[in-house]
Amino acid sequence: MPIYPDSFKTEVAEKNSIEDVISEYVVLSKRSGTNRFGLCPFHNEKTPSFSVSPSRQFFHCFGCGKGGDVVTFIMEIEGLTYPEALEFLARRANIPIPVADNDAETKKRARMYALNKDAARYFYEKLRSPEGEAGRRYIASRKISAATATNFGLGYAPDSWTSLYDAMRAKGYSELEMLDADLIRKGKNGGFYDTFRNRLVFPVIDTTGKVIGFSGRILGDGEPKYLNTKETLVFNKGRNLFGLNLAKKSKAGYIILVEGNVDVVSLHQAGFDSAVASLGTSFTDEQARLISRYTDEVVLAYDSDGAGLKAAQRGIGILEKLNVKVKVLRWEGAKDPDDFIKLKGPGAFRNLIENSESQIDYRLLNIKNKYDLSIAEQKVDYLKECTRLVAEFPGNVERQVYAIRVAEIAGVGQEAVIKEVEDQRKRLLRGARARTEREIRPEKLAQPAERDLRYDNPESAVAEEGVVRLLFLEPSLAGKTREKLESDDFTSEALKHLYTVILSRIDEHRALSLSLLGDELSGAEMSLLVNVISKPETLSSASDTIDDYILKIKERNGRDSSFSDLKGLADKMKNKGKGYK
Ligand code: CTP
Ligand code: MN
Repeated sequence: MPIYPDSFKTEVAEKNSIEDVISEYVVLSKRSGTNRFGLCPFHNEKTPSFSVSPSRQFFHCFGCGKGGDVVTFIMEIEGLTYPEALEFLARRANIPIPVADNDAETKKRARMYALNKDAARYFYEKLRSPEGEAGRRYIASRKISAATATNFGLGYAPDSWTSLYDAMRAKGYSELEMLDADLIRKGKNGGFYDTFRNRLVFPVIDTTGKVIGFSGRILGDGEPKYLNTKETLVFNKGRNLFGLNLAKKSKAGYIILVEGNVDVVSLHQAGFDSAVASLGTSFTDEQARLISRYTDEVVLAYDSDGAGLKAAQRGIGILEKLNVKVKVLRWEGAKDPDDFIKLKGPGAFRNLIENSESQIDYRLLNIKNKYDLSIAEQKVDYLKECTRLVAEFPGNVERQVYAIRVAEIAGVGQEAVIKEVEDQRKRLLRGARARTEREIRPEKLAQPAERDLRYDNPESAVAEEGVVRLLFLEPSLAGKTREKLESDDFTSEALKHLYTVILSRIDEHRALSLSLLGDELSGAEMSLLVNVISKPETLSSASDTIDDYILKIKERNGRDSSFSDLKGLADKMKNKGKGYK
């Protein structure tokens, strides 16, 4: 990973205000007090518990516990590594990126891309060679044309244990490189064998045109139907979509989301060139975000079985959160889009798309069907239920549009409905804020959100958090803290790590800010740090307070015999009425 200087990190943080950056992804409320609130993009929620602090330049979700600075946010939301996120933000703010060494990991990635490309070419040629007969027969049976096969770079993995292995060895790739790319796997007897054998191979190509992995479909029936590259340095199933490299160029104005790779190929062949499929995972937040970069409308065309419907419901929730409009296709008499097109033709599929209702219309219609609008009381109930639903939409324009639609359906004035929706919206945001306040209680926050970081000794951890918080806020306390406290006194490994990282930065006389710690802390540790420093603390008597924290840690550990009067100590702390609130 390239290592960037502090000056660059600081400039990136200064020129990318966290409010502005996050506003590009999340609808934030107006400032209320010091913070702004929105719906957390990292977990599913209906009322906002995601807060952004413009003054301290961090975000923090009271629901899922995620937190960090602007770089952490971009890492999480764009699925980037720390240096990649820095570069992303540097480009956003037109800051020149310092030339970094072409270090080991970058080289490894480059080799993996090259290997994947060579492997794709190998599979491609095999499909068109005498050995590829079985593959060609399968393609023909699925009515995939030669041109379509070429368009997708489809290939065939021969029915052999080591044919790819041998070919790639001959090209100079090592066993380790092939293992890392998941192109070969290790057998029980220590030998290697090709991961993909006797399968139709779909190269997975990212939006920049690089081959990042493969899906192999069995020829005919059998299990598993699809085999996908496992997670590698360049491939993550949940962060990519099959076909997006082609779909992103489509002029359709919407993206069609289907389940199987064959459905994607078949739809493109029939002229629907914006079809994509998730790679054998249920639809993820990252995939939704990826899609939302290219379109604001998604057509869900999942299989018409129960599992498909459930998956569609999930997808709707994730996409609507990102302000992506969702239409759901419903059909009968066919298993999936491929099947549908084979049976009824592309024209019928286009009709499905054009006549499908938007998900919101569909829900409003469902509400309407529950009431008899000619009866005054029922009309009121109808309006109540609809305005409650519309108030949840994050977009202002969207809320207005649907408020007007509801008013029209009910035959009442627009203004009143719009006002009611906005009132509901305010109530919603207020409720979330109140909930947030209530949640800032020690018992609730006493444990980090991340399971792995859970405290074994919550009472000591409270004091350990206090030390970390005060050092972060008041680095001049480092000297005396080190005298009195050893890192081994910490009961929480995570807090101990935060403590040593902070201390060593202070020792090196380097500045201390969230934006400078990104490459030394894991995401979970960053969240924990934000959590810790956002708890209330008075700085006026910081020096005394840190002493109390240190005493408490020592006392918990039973290490320091000089404080035998524990009860007196406890009283002293109580009387001071400070420390952890
Ligand atoms: N799937 C997978 N890996 C992929 C693509 C799909 O594991 N790269 C899984 C999906 O999660 C889903 C199933 O395979 O469970 C979807 O298969 P289906 O739509 O039946 O795939 P098709 O290739 O269209 O197969 P068929 O010809 O049977 O329609
Ligand atoms: Mn299918």
